[in-house]
Amino acid sequence: MSDTAIRPLVAGNWKMNGTTAALREPRLLGAMLKGVKLKCDVLVCPPATIIRRAKAVMKGGKIKVGGQDCHAAASGAHTGDISAEMLKDAGAAMVIVGHSERRTNHKETDAEVAAKAKAAHRAGLVAIICIGETLEERKGGKTLDVLTSQLKGSIPEGANSGNTVIAYEPVWAIGTGLTASTAEVAEAHTHIRKEIGKIMGAEGAKTRILYGGSVKPSNAAELMGAANVNGALVGGASLKAADFIGIIKTYM
Ligand code: PGA
Repeated sequence: MSDTAIRPLVAGNWKMNGTTAALREPRLLGAMLKGVKLKCDVLVCPPATIIRRAKAVMKGGKIKVGGQDCHAAASGAHTGDISAEMLKDAGAAMVIVGHSERRTNHKETDAEVAAKAKAAHRAGLVAIICIGETLEERKGGKTLDVLTSQLKGSIPEGANSGNTVIAYEPVWAIGTGLTASTAEVAEAHTHIRKEIGKIMGAEGAKTRILYGGSVKPSNAAELMGAANVNGALVGGASLKAADFIGIIKTYM
């Protein structure tokens, strides 16, 4: 299957930002997209506390709602954690797992990320599995090896193009204003495409690979135009509808 046959996804990761007042943004976004024929899927991942309300304000619209993380277990004695089943119940369609902030702040390993992705599949959610190298690893020429081992360790059995999305997010580009060059993005994404083919078989060719790391309206078209890029995972620029729409416009 050619790259162009894959329906892109533009996903917004709000991180730990947004209370009820922030719901005006997805409401605005919903209004902006009314009547627009989109050539991509759009996802907003607000904090879990407002997933249900976010879904309600966008009711009948084109925007899906997602979670930012989930526990591997369906329920149990895990104070403060949220299961994939709970996210699904709140209205989520997808969940981000293995974001570098989770891998760093919570010391999450590839095996834990794979278990979370498996939990997402169990609950009927699409898992957005994040991978990416640090600046040190890039400078040391280890980028492609790091991506290979993260993919091998983080993709669970049963992953297919319908239940899994890969997000390539160079750690040094997240929230820094720095972005990988188009050549660096193309190199990483083409490598990921090859590696997921080995892990997922024919499904690998149909699986969406998102780029994330300081994507904004001014650089989105160029980044999204790189080989094997099927959309974006957007942090800061997804918080305001006016910015997020500027990225979604790449696919309008
Ligand atoms: P950023 O975040 O767009 O603010 O760099 C991306 C992400 O962490 O998903």
